[in-house]
Amino acid sequence: MSLRLVFVGPPGAGKGTQAKVICERYKIPQISTGDMLRAGKKAGTLPKELIDTMAAGGLVPDQAVIDLIAKRIDEEDAKNGFLLDGFPRTVPQAEALNKLLADRGSKLDTVLALNVAASLLIERAVLRRTDKRTGQIYHLKYNPPPPDVNPADLEHRADDHEEVVRNRVETYEKMTADLLPFYKKVGLLQELDGVGKVEEVTGRVLGALESIKK
Ligand code: AP5
Repeated sequence: MSLRLVFVGPPGAGKGTQAKVICERYKIPQISTGDMLRAGKKAGTLPKELIDTMAAGGLVPDQAVIDLIAKRIDEEDAKNGFLLDGFPRTVPQAEALNKLLADRGSKLDTVLALNVAASLLIERAVLRRTDKRTGQIYHLKYNPPPPDVNPADLEHRADDHEEVVRNRVETYEKMTADLLPFYKKVGLLQELDGVGKVEEVTGRVLGALESIKK
C-alpha cells in the first residue's frame, strides 16, 4: 500500500513520536523539515538568519522548506510514500506540495491533525529529551529514558525552553490558522485527539489510516 501522509499539529503535539511508529509499521520514511533544518545547522550549512528564526520560535521562509522537500521526495526510499512531519505549515507550502506531487503524478492520501490543548504543550516540549544516537524521543515525566541510556546522549533541543515554546505555539496558531481549512475544504483533513497515552493516540492514528486504505 502506498501512503502519502501529512502530520500537522502544534509543537509538542506528538507528531514525531507517532510518526516513528507509523513509519515503521508502513515502511515509509519520516520526513521532518524540523529535523532537516537542525541537521543543516549541525552541518554548518544553515544560514544564520534561519538559525535565528528557529531559535526565536518563528517559521523559516516557505521557499527554504519547499526546496528541502522537493529534493527529499525524489529519493528512492520515498518513491512508495512518506510521512511529512511538520510540513506544510502554511497555505503557500501546501500549494507548493500539491504542485510537486501533481508533477510526479501523485497526491496526498490524508492529512492528520493532532489536537492538544496549549496548556499541555509547554510541559511536553520543555521536558522532552532526544537520544542523539538513535533519535528516540523521551519525556522526563511521561516516557522517561531507560536506565541503560547514558544521560550524556540525551539532547535538550535549543528551542525547547519555555519562552520559545510559547512563541512556537503562538506562531503555529497564527500561521497555520488557514492551513486546516485549506485541507478541510478538499476533504483531506482528519482531526484527532492527541491527548492520552502514546499507545492510545497511535490507535486513533491507525484508525484514521484504516479509513483511507486503498
Ligand atoms: P519541528 O521540529 O517541526 O518542531 P515542532 O513542530 O515545533 O514540533 P515538535 O518536534 O516540537 O513536537 P512534536 O509534535 O514532534 O512532538 P514530540 O513527538 O517530539 O520544527 C522546529 C522549527 O523548525 C520550527 O519552529 C520552525 O522554526 C522550523 N520549521 C520546521 N518546519 C517548518 C516549516 N514547514 N515551515 C517553516 N518553518 C519550519 O513530543 C513532544 C514531547 O511530548 C516528547 O517528550 C514526547 O515524549 C511527549 N509526548 C508525545 N506524545 C505524548 C503523549 N501522548 N502523552 C504525553 N507525552 C507525550
